[in-house]
Amino acid sequence: MNELAAVLRRQLAAELPDLRRRIRAAGTDEARAARCGTIGELRDLARHSLPRVIFDFVDGAAADEVTAVRNRQHFRALELLPRVLADVSEVDIATSVLGQPIAAPLLAAPMGLLGLVDPAGELALARAMDAAGSICVLGAMSSYRIEEVSQASGGPLWFQMYLWRDRGLVRELLDRARACGHRALVLTVDVPRAAGRDRDRRNGFGVPPRATVRSLVEGALHPRWARRLIREPRLQWANVVGRDSEALDAVSATVYINSQFDPSATWEDLSWFRAQWEGPLVVKGILHPEDAREAIRRGAQAISVSNHGGRQLDHAPSAISALPAIVDAVGQDAEVYLDGGIRRGSDVVKAIALGARACLLGRSLVYGLGAAGEAGVARAVEIIRSELVGTLALAGSTSIHSLRPTDVRPVSPGAGRGGPSRVQSTNQLVENAW
Ligand SMILES: Cc1cc2nc3c(=O)[nH]c(=O)nc-3n(C[C@H](O)[C@H](O)[C@H](O)COP(=O)(O)O)c2cc1C
Repeated sequence: MNELAAVLRRQLAAELPDLRRRIRAAGTDEARAARCGTIGELRDLARHSLPRVIFDFVDGAAADEVTAVRNRQHFRALELLPRVLADVSEVDIATSVLGQPIAAPLLAAPMGLLGLVDPAGELALARAMDAAGSICVLGAMSSYRIEEVSQASGGPLWFQMYLWRDRGLVRELLDRARACGHRALVLTVDVPRAAGRDRDRRNGFGVPPRATVRSLVEGALHPRWARRLIREPRLQWANVVGRDSEALDAVSATVYINSQFDPSATWEDLSWFRAQWEGPLVVKGILHPEDAREAIRRGAQAISVSNHGGRQLDHAPSAISALPAIVDAVGQDAEVYLDGGIRRGSDVVKAIALGARACLLGRSLVYGLGAAGEAGVARAVEIIRSELVGTLALAGSTSIHSLRPTDVRPVSPGAGRGGPSRVQSTNQLVENAW
């Protein structure tokens, strides 16, 4: 016993001089990020690090959150049918979107107001995607100005817009995005009006956040988040509040932005946007094959299959379940992307096998941002990228380009009796999954 105590004493004495440095190092964003090995772990760390109102703004979805849950469940309801002895020492995940080469089929989804989560906000996403050799889609509702993001990141950017009413504002933002070298326009069409998000309502979420007793207590309980926010507040829609032509403050900007969503928008409005933007057009928020065809007829070069991460219409189909019918309807006429529920590299493999060209990462990146700032976003991208490579190798695929719908099949009681030959079409494949 005495001997054990002596050993422990010696070990402690050896470690003590370095202890302070090690404790400090363990608290850095890099160390926090490195401790997380999955998106789930980044999410857990973000939940502990952020005030509830902020975590719920990111994590939450519309109404009962049925669609958000199904986005995840329906990936899990598909299994991968591996091949063996295929020399997977090298696997190829490079591809291109709209003619732009990217190192991995992963783009950052457009997301607004990320400065609420961490002051690095959208800058962190743009830099992480640049470092990963891919593209960040910058949302018009970002907490940094279009110009600030392009200055901070040398990487390629696409610009996301809504079909806002104030066409003067729209033209101005498109001009600014064009001047900053944004190469494609992503038009989000699934927000005719704001959806009811019960977590946000219960938490009293608002922009800019109000100082209440509750928010002060939350700030005190989350000092890391509060310190950063006080040092560098990024709490408003920078592209609108900081606009040269209008002296909008943060409060009137909220009223103004809310009034911009136009429930009367139609396909004619999409054609108007098409006429304003000479570069490639991506239409985001499509779940119906006929809408995909109409978007292409009106000049879209790509369709992003998306239910907004379950944040708009609750009980809409999951993104992965909607994908095959849209891939079939689109054929070779446009590229098809998918977002909604991507948390693992294996999710990306399944989406690509079912016909997506690339996936957009939403909350996965924001969990990283909340957990460990910019280092956390980079970690989230790296986790999904390396899981993607690992999954391909274990599934016996040397390239994302050789994935086929028959590499994926529904988990079902009958799965043991059938093989890939049972699969008739991609539609049927996913239909059978639930
Ligand atoms: C915090 C947050 C803000 C978002 N803001 C926008 C936005 O401004 N424009 C947009 O088209 N989609 C927005 N989205 C939806 C994402 O682009 C994407 O469709 C969705 O997050 C994908 O689902 P996932 O989070 O499960 O990956 C937002 C999503 C989140 C989580």
